[in-house]
Amino acid sequence: MSILFTPIDLGNVQVKNRFIHSATYEVMAIETGEVSDKLIKRYQRLAKGEVGLIIPGYMYVHPLGRSYKYQTGIHNDDMIPGLRKLVEAVHQEGGKIAFQLAHAGRQTTKAMIGQTPLGPSSKGRNPITFVKPKEMSADQIQEVIQAFGIAANRAVEAGVDGIQLHAAHGYLINQFISPFFNHRKDEWGGSDTNRFRFLKKVLSEVRKVLPQGMPVFVKLNAHDYTPQEGITPSLAVTYARWLSELEINGLEISCGSPVYSFMNMCRGDVPVKELVNSLPFWKRPLGKLMLRNMVGKYDFEEGYNIEAAKMIKPVLGKTPLFVVGGLRQVAEMREVLEKQYADCISMCRPFIREPFIVKKIKEGNAEAVTCVSCNRCLAAVTHNIPVQCYNRGLPES
Ligand SMILES: Cc1cc2nc3c(=O)[nH]c(=O)nc-3n(C[C@H](O)[C@H](O)[C@H](O)COP(=O)(O)O)c2cc1C
Repeated sequence: MSILFTPIDLGNVQVKNRFIHSATYEVMAIETGEVSDKLIKRYQRLAKGEVGLIIPGYMYVHPLGRSYKYQTGIHNDDMIPGLRKLVEAVHQEGGKIAFQLAHAGRQTTKAMIGQTPLGPSSKGRNPITFVKPKEMSADQIQEVIQAFGIAANRAVEAGVDGIQLHAAHGYLINQFISPFFNHRKDEWGGSDTNRFRFLKKVLSEVRKVLPQGMPVFVKLNAHDYTPQEGITPSLAVTYARWLSELEINGLEISCGSPVYSFMNMCRGDVPVKELVNSLPFWKRPLGKLMLRNMVGKYDFEEGYNIEAAKMIKPVLGKTPLFVVGGLRQVAEMREVLEKQYADCISMCRPFIREPFIVKKIKEGNAEAVTCVSCNRCLAAVTHNIPVQCYNRGLPES
């Protein structure tokens, strides 16, 4: 039996293999934030495909933390029945499911939330919208911490197996823990310990409502790739150590952000045409120039977060590590586990193309995934087009 198919305990949840579906924004919720049948079907297929643990796309915990029109919400109780259906569909196929809880912070738009986006600090404009965020007050910080806890409770009511806190990709938690975004001088900023406090408080608020043993995971950037220093691998090592001391049940390592470095987050081709078309008309000439300039600079690399995983793994103790980003060859996935660089293989784009890839690998029918990291799926979601593989050049899976 391949090491990839050995079970692993994450908290009190036994996961049947080492494959994790990394959170993937689907553009499949309805405008109220409720899950749709299409979204449920997506995860039912993935569960049928024997993915060990499924983490659906990020869910907003508060109306002001919403990023997109068709993003799934977990911000009010009306969301619970739909979320319950989603969980049941995955369970019926023998799968396990954890919800990724998120708040966009400054990484959203006025059009989406009806007011200026909030952030730990107001410094710096969003390079895409040119909007300066509004610094959060102490009360607003408390409100968001509580919102994470209340959202976690909704997840429990929906029957979920675990929670993942989205502390990566430039969203609110990432903004608090990054010296690039956080310039506060109060208890929430000024030192690594203070910047980390927000994540620590969110974690403890979420823990309060979870049944004993239910796992909590964190997705963390090992590198923010912001114009000035944000999270670097060495700071990520410190945070990883603190998170393991707080006894989280799994850490997923990623990098980049949709606003500052989406091509680091999703290395591969720059889909210039598709991305330019998603911009407002007046931004297209400049956008085209900038995107063309990026071509060739972010070429695909196999397992591009593995080096960071190697640095982080030794400080984690017993806390399992999931690595995401460019894992494509089965031999490499095996090596990651055998050499103990990480404990689980997390993937996003390959599952968009091949929901049954885990089953194929298990049956010995695949040595690699067929995703070529063309990033058209990523371009699609920025157009509000539901996620799927748009690379017509490849044979259908
Ligand atoms: C279409 C798309 C949607 C994504 N949505 C999310 C999300 O909701 N939450 C998240 O943490 N990461 C999200 N990501 C990032 C992935 O989870 C993953 O970190 C990244 O794609 C690298 O992994 P891969 O090489 O296996 O695709 C998304 C990526 C893509 C392409």
